[in-house]
Amino acid sequence: MNRLLSHRWAKPLVFALCLLPLSWLLYQVVQDLLGANPQEALIRATGDWALRFLVIVLAVTPLRELSGLSALARYRRMLGVFMYFYALLHFLSYSGFDMGFDVADIFNDIVKRPFILVGSLALQLLTPLAATSFNAAIRAVGAQRWQRMHRLVYAVAGLAILHFFWMRAGKNDFAEVAVYAGILALLLGWRLRKLRPRPR
Ligand code: HEM
Repeated sequence: MNRLLSHRWAKPLVFALCLLPLSWLLYQVVQDLLGANPQEALIRATGDWALRFLVIVLAVTPLRELSGLSALARYRRMLGVFMYFYALLHFLSYSGFDMGFDVADIFNDIVKRPFILVGSLALQLLTPLAATSFNAAIRAVGAQRWQRMHRLVYAVAGLAILHFFWMRAGKNDFAEVAVYAGILALLLGWRLRKLRPRPR
């Protein structure tokens, strides 16, 4: 399995798989399958995929350690950039469909609605992480500082769940939020477990 994951065609295949959600959304747009409010459906769907990729990115290390498949580490940065890609699509859909790309309106909305403020904080924290997901950037930043910087993804996880929770508070519908919060708590707990001092 490790050899399969290291195969030269494996990464392009995973790249193509990461584009499937976008292809499916575009297909639904063209076929008019997004219901009465396709714009809202697109904002939500891209938000959902940003969160799902966040879970996938944070699951790579525990999966690698549990399975012994070291080659999984090859995919973490690419999956991280796709997470940012879907979060950007989410922000652009909101900016276009909800705000008509009116910068003043977007700023007012960020100030007015806490869940939007929290979403924008998450996106702002993700930006330097995505920008430094390339070899040249890692060399420029230095491996240790890069590792420390990328721990910001844990804060993004908290902000994304708060964003989702607050967004659903108006609808009193927390089932999905609870599932994502539970999975992310497990994945972060896995990392905290490693910080515990080992008994001598
Ligand atoms: C500037 C940044 C962001 C803005 C302006 C924004 C805006 C929004 C809006 C307006 C909605 C509600 C859509 C509706 O039902 O009307 C929403 C939902 C959501 N957003 Fe964001 N968001 C941002 C960042 C993020 C980020 C970074 C993530 C994930 C990592 C995220 C994940 C979600 C999720 C999961 C939902 C719920 C979708 C559902 O109901 O199924 N958002 N966001």
